[in-house]
Amino acid sequence: MVKRKTKNLIDINDLSIKEIDDLIKVANDIITNKEKYSKKCDGKILATLFFESSTRTRLSFESAMLRLGGNVLGFSEASSSSTTKGESLADTVTVVSGYSDIIAMRHPKEGAPVVATRNCSVPIINAGDGGHNHPTQTLTDLFTISREKGRLDNLTIGLCGDLKFGRTVHSLITAMSRYKNIKFILISPNELKLPEYIKKDVLDKNNISYIETNDIEEYLKDLDILYMTRVQKERFFNEADYIRLKDYYILNEEKLKKAKKDLCILHPLPRVNEIAIEVDNDKRACYFKQARYGVYIRMALILKLLEVK
Ligand code: NCD
Repeated sequence: MVKRKTKNLIDINDLSIKEIDDLIKVANDIITNKEKYSKKCDGKILATLFFESSTRTRLSFESAMLRLGGNVLGFSEASSSSTTKGESLADTVTVVSGYSDIIAMRHPKEGAPVVATRNCSVPIINAGDGGHNHPTQTLTDLFTISREKGRLDNLTIGLCGDLKFGRTVHSLITAMSRYKNIKFILISPNELKLPEYIKKDVLDKNNISYIETNDIEEYLKDLDILYMTRVQKERFFNEADYIRLKDYYILNEEKLKKAKKDLCILHPLPRVNEIAIEVDNDKRACYFKQARYGVYIRMALILKLLEVK
């Protein structure tokens, strides 16, 4: 096992509130002073090991490294790696850590990134592990909320859709539970409710108030943030269940009449049917902006983990 002090980002709790604040400050500075950062990672290489499909996460990581003047290599599906020949994750990561300075990996198995850190001499970033966690999406979400709302406390946040398998939801709830006066409205069909372990270990433990409902309209008027999610087709055991649940919620302009004028609508994307296209023109729709912000916060994260000043 390789011994090293390098930091990884596996779980959002690996970062303190202060560290998250600092990342947000740097990301804001990057937006206003792009030129200043354009050579910061000169000569550095980011490897993206994606054993599960992705558009935004992988490409925004690559864009982030390229915008910092670094280089990228990697694969975008397990089928184009030696995993198909039977190579273990541990071996793949040991080898790639010799080819790169930092690794972002996505894997369908919960906990895979933790296993990967044991054999790795460079920082590892969890870019999503199964239905478990997705800390860099959460950094993107926090950065977006801070830019749109000017604060990360005193917020009523509705999370709607697949709260069971939605890893972005799990990481976001974990992160937001550390800020003051946060209330959650958990909107899902019965079958897709937030896992008990998160209610117990995160919400109850931090005395966070939350309401569970399956009605998207019931609390819409109280929300500052509405975080929509896709039903996670790839995590279902049974296709009939997916088909029954996939269009359970469709946010449209009619429903939004009930919401606050300054509601901020987020979605980690990809969207399927859960937000009607007409909502894209609503000034409360922030999800495409959110995807763009993902690049800047990932730039800040790469700088931090590579200890670039
Ligand atoms: C999310 C993911 O992969 O968990 N996408 C993303 O990273 N932006 C959400 C999803 O796939 O539904």
